[in-house]
Amino acid sequence: MKRVFSGVQPTGNIHIGNYIGALKQFVELQEEMDAIYCIVDLHSITVPQDPRALKQHTLDVAALYLSVGLDPNKAIIFVQSTVPAHSELAWILTCNSYTGELSRMTQFKDKSKERESAPTGLFTYPLLMAADILLYDTDIVPVGNDQKQHIELTRDLAERFNNKYGKTFVIPEYRGTKVGARIMALDEPTNKMSKSAENEYSRISLLDTPEKVKKSIMRATTDSDGEIRFDEKNKPGISNLLTIYSVFSCLSIQELEKKYTGCGYGQLKKDLVEVVNDSLVDIQKRYFDIRESEELKRILKDGTEKAQTIAEKTMKRVKENLGFITL
Ligand code: TYM
Repeated sequence: MKRVFSGVQPTGNIHIGNYIGALKQFVELQEEMDAIYCIVDLHSITVPQDPRALKQHTLDVAALYLSVGLDPNKAIIFVQSTVPAHSELAWILTCNSYTGELSRMTQFKDKSKERESAPTGLFTYPLLMAADILLYDTDIVPVGNDQKQHIELTRDLAERFNNKYGKTFVIPEYRGTKVGARIMALDEPTNKMSKSAENEYSRISLLDTPEKVKKSIMRATTDSDGEIRFDEKNKPGISNLLTIYSVFSCLSIQELEKKYTGCGYGQLKKDLVEVVNDSLVDIQKRYFDIRESEELKRILKDGTEKAQTIAEKTMKRVKENLGFITL
C-alpha cells in the first residue's frame, strides 16, 4: 500500500484554502493509502509564537483534522515535536544541502522580504519539511500549490543522499487537487489566501460564524464585466469564487457557468454564502464536540507512538548508511 504524509502548521485561522488545497485531500487519501498526518509545531516557531497560543492552536488543528473527517483508525495523527527524529533528520539533511538551493525557494524569498532580518529557521524550513516526508518512506504528499517547490527540493535531497550513501529514502511525489490547489484572497484575488493577512475578510476560516462568511463573500473583489465565467487571468475574483463554489457544492465549474448564465454577481455570491455555511456548520459542530474532549489527547498520544516506531526504523537506516556507530 502506498504511503501518504502531510502536515499543517498550528498557527490559527485555518481557512478554506487549507481545507481545499490540503485537508480535503487528506480525507480522501486515507481511504486508499497508509496515511500519516502531522501538526507541524516545529515549523510554526520559524516565526515568533506566543507559547500559550501555540499550545491552543496545536489542539485546534488536531480537532479540525478530526472534524473535517480524518479517522484515527485509518490515519496516524500526531504532533511533530513529539517525535524527536524530525529535528535529528533535519540536521543531517542540512549537512547535505546547499545554501544556493535554499535561496531559490520562493516562499523564503516572499517571507523574508517582509522582515528586516530573516530568522535562520525560515531559511532552513524546507529541510525540516523534507525530514518530515522522508522519515516515513512517503510516496505521496498532498499539499497546496505553494508547497510544490519544497517537494521538488525534497526529491532532490533524497536522490542526492541515495546516490552518495546508498538507497536510504523513498522518492516522494507532489499531489495537488485539480480544482483549488491555490485559493486566492477574497479582497485581492491575485494574492494567495493566507492565515496571516491583516484583512480578516480576505479569508474564510473554518471556524468563522455564518455572519462573517456572509460579509467576506459579499465584499469579495470581482470585476466590472458582469459575466459569470471562469477566466483566471482576466477575472481572478469571479474565477476564485467559482472554484470555491465548485468544491463545496460538488458541481463542476462548467455546470456553474451554465447555471449562472445571465445572472448577476450578487446572486452568485448569495448562493455561495449558503453553500459554504452549510458545509462549515457540519465541520464546526464536530469541532466543538471534540476540541475539549480527553479523547483528542489520547488520539495524539497514540499517533506519536505509531509515528515514532516508523521514524526510528528510518533513522536506524540513515545512521547506518552515514557511518554513525551504534553501541
Ligand atoms: P501551511 O500550514 O501553510 O498550510 C497547510 C496546507 O494548506 C495549503 N494551503 C493552500 N492551499 C490552497 N490555497 C491556499 N490559499 C493555501 N494556503 C495554504 C498548503 O499548501 C498546505 O498544504 N510547510 C507546510 C507544512 C508542512 C508540510 C510538511 C506539508 C510541514 N512539513 C510535510 C507536507 C509535508 C505549511 O506551512 O503548510
